[in-house]
Amino acid sequence: VRVIGEHDVRTSAARSNVLVVGSDDLLTPYARDLVSQLGLRVVSEPVETVAPNAPDHGTAVSRVLLRRSPKWVTPEAVTNLSATAFGRVVMVGCGAVGAAAGHMIAARAAARELAFIDLVPGLAASTALDIEHASGITGSDTRCTGGETLDLLADADVVVVTAGRPRSPGMSRDDLRDINSKVVRGVAEAVQEHAPDAILVIVTNPLDEMTYEAYRSTQLPRERVLGMAGTLDSSRFRWSLATAAGVHPRDVSAFTLGSHGDEMVPILSHATIKGRPVAEVLPQDAIDRCVKETVGGGGRIVAIRRTGSASIAPAHSIVEMLDAMRGAVSDLLPVSVLLRGEYGIEDVVVGVPTRLGRAGLEEIVELPLAQEELEALRRAAIIVKERLKN
Ligand SMILES: NC(=O)c1ccc[n+]([C@@H]2O[C@H](COP(=O)([O-])OP(=O)(O)OC[C@H]3O[C@@H](n4cnc5c(N)ncnc54)[C@H](O)[C@@H]3O)[C@@H](O)[C@H]2O)c1
Repeated sequence: VRVIGEHDVRTSAARSNVLVVGSDDLLTPYARDLVSQLGLRVVSEPVETVAPNAPDHGTAVSRVLLRRSPKWVTPEAVTNLSATAFGRVVMVGCGAVGAAAGHMIAARAAARELAFIDLVPGLAASTALDIEHASGITGSDTRCTGGETLDLLADADVVVVTAGRPRSPGMSRDDLRDINSKVVRGVAEAVQEHAPDAILVIVTNPLDEMTYEAYRSTQLPRERVLGMAGTLDSSRFRWSLATAAGVHPRDVSAFTLGSHGDEMVPILSHATIKGRPVAEVLPQDAIDRCVKETVGGGGRIVAIRRTGSASIAPAHSIVEMLDAMRGAVSDLLPVSVLLRGEYGIEDVVVGVPTRLGRAGLEEIVELPLAQEELEALRRAAIIVKERLKN
């Protein structure tokens, strides 16, 4: 028999609001009074506890090592964000990527109006109606329309260009250049005519060249001609590192710069897993595999699908950029923009860290990079520039 006195009660109260007693334990009268004075809950043994997860031995050891690290940090919660919806977003190209991105924009009511434009008769209008039909479930009040003509661009705040051919197995993104540059040029010129104040988000491949093409054919300010690829490649990089380390993707912070292709530069000097440098968590061969997986991520999907390329992750990556512009996300995002001396690069489009806002590009952030990363970024710029000459 255990006699529970004042000291035991006070010790329990210091730890939690529960006092655990066995079936044979005796509480002194003073201890009983103290329990009610302190508002403790008396729980009889045996106390039910949730069975812990039983990971394999290797995972358990690496988790313990990681958690014991003095550098362990949990991701900070994002606070004080006040997002506002766009007035009108227009999606030019209503194929796999355009439809998926439009669907997400409407589902989160990121725009009051969403218009789709596609050459294929009925495709844009039917997609718009299909998305509106879901509003009985999503509760979104985004009004969706669709058609075949570019006059639907009028009054757009943002125009997302996904029009053009995707890759087939065996094709590089560069193989699409001749076909897609005509499409992107035509759309960019129409934006200048119908929605001269809009921000252009180019998605069509080859991404960096097409973004430059849109800039060159319109002379819109570079702040309003943005290319989406870095958000996608960075998401693939974080997924790959998280998978290799056996952690949640949110525990990984990493991004890629450079071009959307073989000249992509996954940045290891800033990559962390649970706040620790990647090299402290993963062996070099695993890191090399992650880099390879990231650079080849899009190609892997093309090879498995055989017709068409990735669409779901690209749609999320478009929406991440739009969310940053409308204030729903506060992170630095890698975006392809025209550079004017930043990182020592002139008059070419490649992916660099940026801050986005309602006016498009707000700032190009020049982060300190490892020497080989800076050289790889500059090499990517030279190669994209060479391709633009051909
Ligand atoms: N930047 C990236 O990270 C990224 C990721 C995925 C795909 N992409 C690229 O995005 C583009 C679209 O991919 P997808 O899978 O949606 O292709 P898709 O073939 O499914 O859709 C493309 C759509 O564009 C339409 N289109 C073509 N020319 C047009 C024009 N002049 N005006 C209006 N519509 C036109 C087509 O009718 C088609 O419906 C491709 O070039 C692809 O390589 C880029």
